[in-house]
Amino acid sequence: MTSSSRLAQTLAQTKQTGGEHSPPEIRELIRGYQAGEIDDRLMTAWLQAVCDRGMSFEETTALTEAMAKSGRIIEWPPEFRPIVDKHSTGGVGDAVSLIAVPLAAACGARVAKLAGRALGHTGGTIDKLECIPALRSDLTVEEFIGQVARVGCAIAHATDELAPADKLLYALRNRTGTVRSAPLIAASVVSKKMAGGADAMVLDVTCGCGAFMRSLPEARTLGEMMSHVGRRLGRRVDVLITDMDQPLARSVGDALELDEALAVLENDGWPSESLRELAIEVAAALLAADGATAPETSRVRVREALQQGAGLRRFSEMVAAQGGRLDLFNRTLQPSGTIQAASTGVIGWIDAHACGQFVRANSAAPKGDVHRGGLRFRKAAGDHVERGEIVADIFGAPEASQVRDLTQAVQIGREKRRQRPLILDRF
Ligand code: URA
Repeated sequence: MTSSSRLAQTLAQTKQTGGEHSPPEIRELIRGYQAGEIDDRLMTAWLQAVCDRGMSFEETTALTEAMAKSGRIIEWPPEFRPIVDKHSTGGVGDAVSLIAVPLAAACGARVAKLAGRALGHTGGTIDKLECIPALRSDLTVEEFIGQVARVGCAIAHATDELAPADKLLYALRNRTGTVRSAPLIAASVVSKKMAGGADAMVLDVTCGCGAFMRSLPEARTLGEMMSHVGRRLGRRVDVLITDMDQPLARSVGDALELDEALAVLENDGWPSESLRELAIEVAAALLAADGATAPETSRVRVREALQQGAGLRRFSEMVAAQGGRLDLFNRTLQPSGTIQAASTGVIGWIDAHACGQFVRANSAAPKGDVHRGGLRFRKAAGDHVERGEIVADIFGAPEASQVRDLTQAVQIGREKRRQRPLILDRF
């Protein structure tokens, strides 16, 4: 057993018994895992202990810093600053970044977004963006900087150069069911923002059954942790706690969500109002993140940019700069089936977690195949339905039992469940 392996074992035991780690111990743990000196089994035991016992602000700050410094940290030339970035802690039907990033850039913000892939039942921005034929998300640091300078925005996957320790841990957490932990999520998100060199970050902390943080107190704890860590590391942080009990959009699934995000940018009438409104709010927060633009002014500018098609033009420029062929993206996906109302009544609630699980279980087709699994709702909470009426279209090839389970996710009763506001808290 190497000394790093022994350390990992000791730290897992310390954590399980309620102890606290020192910053040098955390740095050595991350270094050892990245160097391949600690195997996945030992690291998983430590992750499990963190999921069970949590971490203090100090430990989380040390973990964030260790992961950010596991690779390069982008130094932006002063003339491009402030650089802003946005991240969501994960949701279902959450294509906000695809809309908010180009919209904010169209209003003058410089948005350098480092994004991730699907995690657990939640979707990933990179997977959605890669539905565009030929689009490259693996930009080198130089390409990333050059694009933000020219176009005003880029959405890239953190390459091996940036926060590589997060990439390794992210994949391990996804394989071992150790995702739902506030300090692990906080360190994962903020380390990527640090590596990307962001001066300010807008963090969307999702809350509800479709999120990793199920309750408002849990979401607030995560938001406060990220805010504390980000500020301790010298960044401006704006946290929005948002509702994720139901899918945010009418579509769930990479290609379908991309199509709906494009429809928002095109000012089409059919997309979800919640998706549109949250994207506007996040874009305004990105614009106001320079500390010089008032939030109300930012909102007005973002709405104007959306109406005038400036967000769509910026999105097309960003995609073209990343080699993508938006003209080849197939937007006429054919459903393979439907979900029908199990009874007559009013749709009270649509279970976001069940929708996310259904889609992830049906998204195994190879990259580049835009006919990946998904759902698109024809009905929403509050709509009256007759038994057997179509509630949603299904895409992909799910098994009959999965479709049956999904039918249960659409809860029908006498009235709509009382809906929470889209933005539950902000600080
Ligand atoms: N997004 C991330 O980047 N990391 C997490 O752990 C969860 C959501």
